[in-house]
Amino acid sequence: MAKQVAKPVGITETVLRDAHQSLIATRMTTEQMLPIIDKMDKVGYHSVECWGGATFDASLRFLKEDPWERLRKLRDGFKNTKLQMLFRGQNILGYAPYADDVVEYFVQKSIANGIDIIRIFDCLNDLRNLKTAVKAANKEKGHAQVALSYTLGDAYTLEYWRDIAKRIEDMGADSICIKDMAGLLVPNAASELVQALKEGSKLPIQLHTHYTSGVAAMTYMKAVEAGCDVIDTAMSPLAMGTSQPATEVMAKSFEGSPYDPGFDQNLLAEIADYFRPMREEWLESGLLSPKVMGVNIKTLLYQVPGGMLSNMVSQLKEMHAEDKYDEVLEEIPRVRKDFGEIPLVTPSSQIVGTQAVLNVVLGERYKNLTKESKDLLVGKYGQTTKPVDKAVQKKALDSLGMKKPITYRPADDIKPQLKQMEKECAQYKQQDEDVLSYALFPQVATDFFKYREAQQSKVDLSIADTENGVYPV
Ligand code: CO
Repeated sequence: MAKQVAKPVGITETVLRDAHQSLIATRMTTEQMLPIIDKMDKVGYHSVECWGGATFDASLRFLKEDPWERLRKLRDGFKNTKLQMLFRGQNILGYAPYADDVVEYFVQKSIANGIDIIRIFDCLNDLRNLKTAVKAANKEKGHAQVALSYTLGDAYTLEYWRDIAKRIEDMGADSICIKDMAGLLVPNAASELVQALKEGSKLPIQLHTHYTSGVAAMTYMKAVEAGCDVIDTAMSPLAMGTSQPATEVMAKSFEGSPYDPGFDQNLLAEIADYFRPMREEWLESGLLSPKVMGVNIKTLLYQVPGGMLSNMVSQLKEMHAEDKYDEVLEEIPRVRKDFGEIPLVTPSSQIVGTQAVLNVVLGERYKNLTKESKDLLVGKYGQTTKPVDKAVQKKALDSLGMKKPITYRPADDIKPQLKQMEKECAQYKQQDEDVLSYALFPQVATDFFKYREAQQSKVDLSIADTENGVYPV
């Protein structure tokens, strides 16, 4: 087949980050990644997303791995491919805003350890929350991609997206990503959206979606035909369901068109062969649940990301209120409306989801506001798309002892944190990056540091035992 290379679509491979975050709770280990990266490096990906998002937390907390060590090993292996990470704006890789000095240092160290492209998003699309990270990426000569959290609602007109694209370009970003975490973007809307973003700015456009509702592959096709430059896909053993469309399938679908990325299907098949037995193991162990595979059309009906549904189920289970599932599902859009019709993505998805569960289980709406709900209602996460419900906001203000909501950038209130963090974790520090792990997850990082020390003394001990039976000095 004659291959046209007029404008091949770029492919970002997500198997090392979002795919396993979406399907197996981010449990892929570095050891499972390393043997295949040599082959992955030969594919010709636009980039490989392999770090950030939940991988940082999961490495430290569950896998007892140093995330920085993982990044350095991936960097060593990927000689020709750009490495990409996901970054939650002022929340970095955590769930609440940090001081600018922590954000800046995190960006600096991410790039120094091997990241090329930083995808930065804010759950409210409040660009003020992205400013520090974008500037830091510019300064470190990294690629700053601003991701728009995609959602539906009256406020989200094409005009809204066109305008925000322009503002993103003005703030110094290198590209724009449409981050459709729930798989809400249907094919024709994708065409219109890509065109609107292209009208608003000259920046390259990347589309990130999830297969959850079953439309994702068609959405990609339409988006690329409308001028979308890069799409996110995952190798087939970790594709579809709540993950991304399959890399092999998307590459094949563009053959014979100017968008053909020109990938070697034999090479892709070899890479898929590597991951397939892992998938079987995860299925057998129950880590990969059939629930997250296939198509869940409820995500289109309720506009709720897949991950939020599974969180909600476990919260209801804990409260012995599983029979309230449908009621909560209906309450989520109402809470979202009261909270300013915001996108649902970490951490706003958790905030809205938990509040909806409480509203239903307690039998009275907003009888009990969570701390996070209060913070969101008084502006501590940033500006919501639409104004929040006045009565609920009043409740939050009163209980926090505040007269009026915050209208400035929330991080302006946060004093520098790094020095204090350095002090607190000094006794465990083995590398500069440790302070960042500690700043984000103090308890989890401390547990990890202790574990690391224990492992190291074990190694020392065994060397001493086998060599001459004395303890090393
Ligand atoms: Co995603």
